[in-house]
Amino acid sequence: MEKIVINGGIPLRGTIDISGMKNGALPILFASLLVDGRCVIENVPAISDVYISLDILQRMGASVRMLDKNTVELDTQNIRGGSAPIDLVRKLRASYYLLGSELGRFGRAYVGYPGGCDFGVRPIDQHIKGFEALGAEVTLEGGYIKAEAVDGLMGAHVFFDEVTVGGTMNIMLAAVKAKGCTVIENAAREPHIVDLANFLNTCGAVIRGAGTDTIRIRGVETLHGCTYAIIPDMIEAGTYMMAAAATGGTLRINNVIPKHLESITAKLEEMGVDVVEDDDYVIVSASKKLRKINVKTLPYPGFPTDMQPQVAVLMCLAGGVSFLNDSIFDRFKYVEQLQRMGASIKIDGKTAIIEGGTPLSGAQVSAVDLRAGAAMVIAGLAIDGKTEIDNIYRIERGYDDLVGKLRAVGADIKKINVPDAVSFGMMA
Ligand code: EPU
Repeated sequence: MEKIVINGGIPLRGTIDISGMKNGALPILFASLLVDGRCVIENVPAISDVYISLDILQRMGASVRMLDKNTVELDTQNIRGGSAPIDLVRKLRASYYLLGSELGRFGRAYVGYPGGCDFGVRPIDQHIKGFEALGAEVTLEGGYIKAEAVDGLMGAHVFFDEVTVGGTMNIMLAAVKAKGCTVIENAAREPHIVDLANFLNTCGAVIRGAGTDTIRIRGVETLHGCTYAIIPDMIEAGTYMMAAAATGGTLRINNVIPKHLESITAKLEEMGVDVVEDDDYVIVSASKKLRKINVKTLPYPGFPTDMQPQVAVLMCLAGGVSFLNDSIFDRFKYVEQLQRMGASIKIDGKTAIIEGGTPLSGAQVSAVDLRAGAAMVIAGLAIDGKTEIDNIYRIERGYDDLVGKLRAVGADIKKINVPDAVSFGMMA
């Protein structure tokens, strides 16, 4: 098993370049199924969720060629629908984009139930409701989702009962080549929704309104290949902004779209952290004791649930009692890990009540999910002593070279290999 080991207490100083957005890259890779011709996708993050997605596409018959570390060329001409290996599909949430893409390409889809971070129940009823509105019959059998539009997909009105990122993208994928017009109401407005729409439009789709809560899609017969660059990852950027704040350091964070970071910037400023924005970078510096804040996670442009565990660490370091409400997911499994470090946190339903300023010290903790793992790293960087984090494969699902980027700004952080028997013995 690999672990991350951190000797904390060192303020981070320097520059970090942000990679392409995980949650934008994954749907775009699967959207290549809809395209006749070659796609060259640039600024693809070097993360395991991307490699698993490319592996799935390749095993389905796509030609996948890495042109460099962050650029991939895809040709899905010979892909076989319904052939995604279930063991790989179960490794990530984003494999559900195969449903929309296969439906859009073949008029039918057969995909295993997706995996991803464990936040309790993660329904896909809104995706299914949307596919059905477009004319597909959807059934669940033996861990697989089967969807079929016998008479082809027809544009329709889809009104989501929940604001869902995955659902919005999946209906866009299914509708882009359907007959007629589709209108998605109560659509998610995340920047990666716009990214997917921009990619598809570059391939010849007609999608309007992405980034608002009403998206209109006029179906087209074919999509052609293109070259497209993924937007920067706002959650990766937000994570390093919080690492700067937690360590009392100064980081310049390059290759960002500051507008996407507004909710994060606002909360950092409320805590007393200085944030300077320019066209494509932010500089975050923290020199004072952090102030307590209250945060409620919301769909974009609200504060992202994917930054919830990271901001919890800042609340532990701040003076006073902070309230952290997650309205999107049941995502507090990591709290026990922070408690091992000395944090005082109580959970009341969907709210964590965090008493900041209790003495914290390095500990052996686990990355219970992707963003929780990032929070453990921030905590380890901020507090004196040694922190060891296991299950770091969960962090590597979504952070491109986290250890290398942090070392370059002065962190004492490394990855070590621990024989499984030893790590098991230590956990016993
Ligand atoms: N929901 C339903 N029914 C549905 C779909 C969603 O009730 O059919 C509910 C969910 O239970 C949740 C809310 O709607 O309460 C929002 O879920 P959403 O569909 O937006 O989330 P997702 O598509 O499963 C994506 C990201 C997550 C990110 C969320 C919210 C990917 C692969 N995953 O998940 O990313 O937290 O949107 O922004 O894009 C991460 O990167 O760490 C991560 C977990």
